[in-house]
Amino acid sequence: MSATNNHIHDTSHITYESLLEGNKKFVAETLKEDPDYFTKLANGQKPPVLWIGCSDSRVPANQVTNTKPGEIFVHRNIANVIVHTDMNMLSVLDYAVNVLEVKHVVVCGHYGCGGVIAALTNKTYGIIDNWLRHIKDIYRLHASELDLISDEVQRANRLVEFNVLEGVHNLCKTSIIQNAWVNGKDLTVHGWVYELSTGFINDLKVSTTSSNNLNDVFKLNY
Ligand code: CO
Repeated sequence: MSATNNHIHDTSHITYESLLEGNKKFVAETLKEDPDYFTKLANGQKPPVLWIGCSDSRVPANQVTNTKPGEIFVHRNIANVIVHTDMNMLSVLDYAVNVLEVKHVVVCGHYGCGGVIAALTNKTYGIIDNWLRHIKDIYRLHASELDLISDEVQRANRLVEFNVLEGVHNLCKTSIIQNAWVNGKDLTVHGWVYELSTGFINDLKVSTTSSNNLNDVFKLNY
């Protein structure tokens, strides 16, 4: 057991051919369970959840929530950063809320997030430095608490949580979410953190269903 604990997951067997073989297996096994599965899915999607998570290969939305294709609408970027001017994120959010009419938007970060850990250093990694600067801004907001945590892993993990909380807050500030609430839509924004070492999700219990908690300056009049 201890030998595997010290090694990362072996991916040497993964080739592009093995992915195509894997796809055939996926189709065969899915059809065995439900012969109409793909024909039904092809008719359209009605996922009740939008997942905004990290691009990290270890946190796939469907697998970690035991869901299937068609059940979660997904947006992922490095370190699940929610930026007001990110047209990609805004397009996904608008489509999910106003066309698919999802009931839940989940921001799911994960402990041990490389993007968050990198943001706590002074190293440069290339263009991503500009993206991770948003996380440094969150650090600045909470520096007084974070600087008291001497353990580096714990400090990074707390910043992971703050990054999710800020993401939830940033989503609630958008005209898309505020508009949905003003129009009486049943929509909740959640903040979760996935624990890589156990597979469990930690619900940060900040589920929000109205703009009441927003500072007045962010509230939009409709
Ligand atoms: Co990550």
